[in-house]
Amino acid sequence: MEIRIPEEKISEIRVASNILDVISERVLLKKTGKNWTGLCPFHSEKTPSFTVSPDKQIYYCFGCGAGGNVFSFLMKLDGLSFVEVLKTLASRYRIDIPEKELTPSQKRRISEREKFFEINSLACSFFRSNLFSDSTEAGNARGYLEKRSINSANINAFGIGYASDSWDSLLRFLKSRNISPEIAERIGLAVKNKNGGFYDRFRNRIVFPISDVSGRITGFGGRVLDDSKPKYLNSPETALYHKGKSLYALNLAKEKSREEGVVYISEGYLDIVSLHQFGITNSVATLGTALTSDQVRILKGYATSMVLVYDSDEAGRSAAVRSAEVFIREGVDAYVLLLPEGHDPDSFVREKGLDGFKHAAESKKSIMDFFIDEGIRMHGVSVAGRVKVVENVCSVLALVNDRVERSLYAKQASLRLGIDPGAFLEKLEKKNTQEPTPVNRVRPVPKTIEADSLRMERMIVSMMLQFPDADVIAEIKKRNLVDLFSDEKLKFSALTILETYSEKSGSDLASDVLGRIDEGLKSFIAELGVCEHPWTIEGCMGLINQFQSKRRRGEKDLLERIKEAEMSNDHGLLLKLLKEKQEMVRRNRT
Ligand code: UTP
Ligand code: MN
Repeated sequence: MEIRIPEEKISEIRVASNILDVISERVLLKKTGKNWTGLCPFHSEKTPSFTVSPDKQIYYCFGCGAGGNVFSFLMKLDGLSFVEVLKTLASRYRIDIPEKELTPSQKRRISEREKFFEINSLACSFFRSNLFSDSTEAGNARGYLEKRSINSANINAFGIGYASDSWDSLLRFLKSRNISPEIAERIGLAVKNKNGGFYDRFRNRIVFPISDVSGRITGFGGRVLDDSKPKYLNSPETALYHKGKSLYALNLAKEKSREEGVVYISEGYLDIVSLHQFGITNSVATLGTALTSDQVRILKGYATSMVLVYDSDEAGRSAAVRSAEVFIREGVDAYVLLLPEGHDPDSFVREKGLDGFKHAAESKKSIMDFFIDEGIRMHGVSVAGRVKVVENVCSVLALVNDRVERSLYAKQASLRLGIDPGAFLEKLEKKNTQEPTPVNRVRPVPKTIEADSLRMERMIVSMMLQFPDADVIAEIKKRNLVDLFSDEKLKFSALTILETYSEKSGSDLASDVLGRIDEGLKSFIAELGVCEHPWTIEGCMGLINQFQSKRRRGEKDLLERIKEAEMSNDHGLLLKLLKEKQEMVRRNRT
């Protein structure tokens, strides 16, 4: 990708950005020593292995190996381009990027997203002013909201509006603002008809704007005022709106969720509006879809515990079962709260109030208990029924990567099912070996004669990243230490560090190196940079000496072994050893 933003600008943005601030907005982090750790947003895990080093301004996940600096974090998490990340951070830290430094296509892409957000926000104000106009239909719409007991504070907080009973009132309004119907269609506000004309998507509906975490409007949902169908109409997938990644009201729920460590998840717009109105502001909703892993991963940044609040009818139960599978797979501490027959969260909290809700929440079931109870409800307690349930539980548990976690779940399941835990585990492990699932194992270090020197080479690269002391770097250069490296990846990394190093770079070195290294080496470098080691000058010099003499000893050993091979006429071995020597000479020369 062509980058037109000058290096100095990029450095300025990097220096201004604090990785801890940026990441902690998205991941729940706890301080552990010098670093901060939390649940990785890039893979499913229950014990935190995602590590952020504010000193080094880098992150690394010991579980899945994702790693990098603040730029790569945002690129990966939000699917943004490098330039988009620069723009985001620049605006956050109030740094100007002169527009002319972007290529025309970059400019178009970025300004298009910004334009889309702007149009959504315009449409939202339009719907809101409709709701408060003095037309009869607006009066009806306000009457409907009143009937549903939504107070005006919440109408404002949620930005609720009304789309008139007209085929083109929004289109006409947008046109007056120089926004074409084609653009309105791309953002999901208009629909194209067979003849190539356009009409408003939302007509005669109460409109709920849907926002991203930071409150920018990505899409809309609209509800009819009577019993006509479809009850709700939602924005289609657009450049801004992806239903599987959106959570209704997350922008309003994030603070309280963090405070309490709990987030409630329900299924409907009005359920959430009501829950918030009764003070349960740590609640969000999925919108017309089953809960996805993406949504659970997003929520992991705001709460460690998640509670589904669903209706207890068949539809609610089966949605909860599907969500349960996602929670178990994602390793989240999750619960299900099934409301009494005939209630949804909205009607329940209205009838029973906050206390009633809290009381009901005490009877929430853990996700595994719920999953098993549902199984028994479906298949019965007969032997055949329980066998079926065991099968189902096994299938879900086979998706749990962590062995300990899996066996804890298995124990819980066998207790609930009244079967022998040993037998259960055995069945499970058999299933697991039959169907190996990709597990997040740490890359094994190859066990060769070189393992020891490989370990030292890794140590040296870590040291250079973590303790970029001028004297230490000078010593490494003077002794041409990097030339003695046997591992190509480490050698390349070390050389890049030396090239990047300047006396000023200090603690930003690791982050700077990550900024100029290839995608493929990013997580490798981040891992070496993030682990903690109490470096001292003496320790560093010791390591340098040790590595150098080890390399020399290796040479002496090799010469002796060559001699032995000559004496014993072992030609095969001799050839192999001579090759090794050649390699060593080449290494020492370059
Ligand atoms: P419900 O049918 O349970 O509606 O759908 P609700 O939320 O209780 O709404 P009220 O109380 O009748 O007004 C739950 C959610 O499923 C999605 C919406 O997100 C809705 O809030 N849904 C439902 C649709 O997307 N389309 C539909 O036609 C119906
Ligand atoms: Mn409802």
